[in-house]
Parts: sequence; C-alpha cells; structure tokens
Amino acid sequence: MRKLIAGNWKMNGSLAANQALVQALRAGVGTPACEVLVCPPAAYLAQLQQLLAGCDAIALGAQDVSEQAGGAYTGNVSAAMLAEFGVRYAIVGHSERRQYQGESDLLVARKAQQALAAGITPIVCVGETLVEREQGLTGFIVQRQLSAAIAVNAARLAEIVVAYEPVWAIGTGQTATPEQAQQVHALLRAQLAAADATAARQVRLLYGGSMNAANAQALLAQPDIDGGLIGGAALKAPDFLTIIGAAA
Ligand code: G3H
Repeated sequence: MRKLIAGNWKMNGSLAANQALVQALRAGVGTPACEVLVCPPAAYLAQLQQLLAGCDAIALGAQDVSEQAGGAYTGNVSAAMLAEFGVRYAIVGHSERRQYQGESDLLVARKAQQALAAGITPIVCVGETLVEREQGLTGFIVQRQLSAAIAVNAARLAEIVVAYEPVWAIGTGQTATPEQAQQVHALLRAQLAAADATAARQVRLLYGGSMNAANAQALLAQPDIDGGLIGGAALKAPDFLTIIGAAA
C-alpha cells in the first residue's frame, strides 16, 4: 500500500513562514513514492489551498474537525467547510486535543464520522502516556481508543487512517524504537481485522512521535508502519523532504 507522510504543523506558522515552507516543499518533492500531506492551522487553509494549487504531490489536511454538521457551535469548523477548501484529510483525536480539550473516545469517533460524510479521510490518533506504558497498559489504552472509532465507523472502516502516537514520544526527541512501534501497530491491525479483515489490510497505520530525518527509514521499514505523522520535523523543509524520501 502507498505510504502516507503527513506533516502536522500544530499551532505554528504565519503567512510568510507558510509561503516559504510550501515553496521549499514544492521545489523539492518531485514525484514522491508516498502520499504527502500538510496540515496547517485552520486559519491558513485558504492560503495553503492557493499555495498548493496545481501541485498534485502534496495534499491538504486539517488538524481537527467538528463532530457537528453545522449550526450554533461557536468556534467549530465543519467537515463540509473544510472540504470547500480542498481538505482531503482531517486529524482527529490528537493527544494534545484529548489532553487540553478533554476530547473523549466517542467524540473523536464522531469527528471521524463527520469527516467521512464530507468525503474527508480521518486520521484517528491513539496513544498511551508514559505512566500508562510503565503500568503495562499500552495495549489496553490504544485498543480502547480505537474501539470507539471502529464502533461508530464500522461500515466505512477501510477508509480511515490510524496514527499511533505514544504521548511520551511527542515533541520530546524520545522516539519509540521501531520494534516498540511495530508491536503496537500489530495490535491495532489485529483489532481492525477482528472487526473487518478486508478493511484491516487497507487501513494505513501511521507512527508519530519524534519521527525525524534520522530515524524515519527504520520506522517506516516495519511491516505494519504505513507512514508517519510528523510534528517538529515537518516544519523544516529539508527534514520533511528526507522523511518523504525514506517512505519509498
Ligand atoms: O502530530 C504529530 C505528533 O504529535 C508528533 O510530533 O514529531 O513533534 O514529536 P513530533
């Protein structure tokens, strides 16, 4: 399956910085073997749509989407609105939103459902904290998080993307080893297969958490790692391009 390399810019960027970054990515990306995605803050989606016009190699994604279709939900952005700006993917349930916005497994599952309804592929994030890992709860936590997304989106399971992001590896420079990541990815694949064996073979499982130019190749070589969700390294064009190159 074609790998997916996704850059999550988080709350970084400016009109000028975005322009420089996209220019450098467009100049260096060529015809990548993998799918490439950039997810800027929502405020910049219109700018990015313009900057990426005519560029088939780089898709546009959102960092979040509302669980509601529309109406009196101040501050929310609906999936249909995102689609109008050419958004093809939406990250849902990133650990920073689970932690700071208190997003629950069910809410995340409903966000994925809204994305699918608007023709947007949800990237459902799961991952354990350091304490949970130390208590031996990694499998339990990620499977609990994924089970809600499976239950709510059972009929369209093949269309989702799942990102495993151990919270202790995000922005810390402490990456999961390829073996640690593969072990969790295999668990997630098995969980998907128990729900729908055909879909499980089609779902891309991304790894996220301090993936960088130096460690990407070893992570992406694992049998159940089908791409990456990259934070810090996605803000530096040479690093992001190296990771894209590693996903051949
Ligand atoms: O969404 C991206 C992840 O949170 C990873 O961030 O690459 O800066 O560790 P990071």
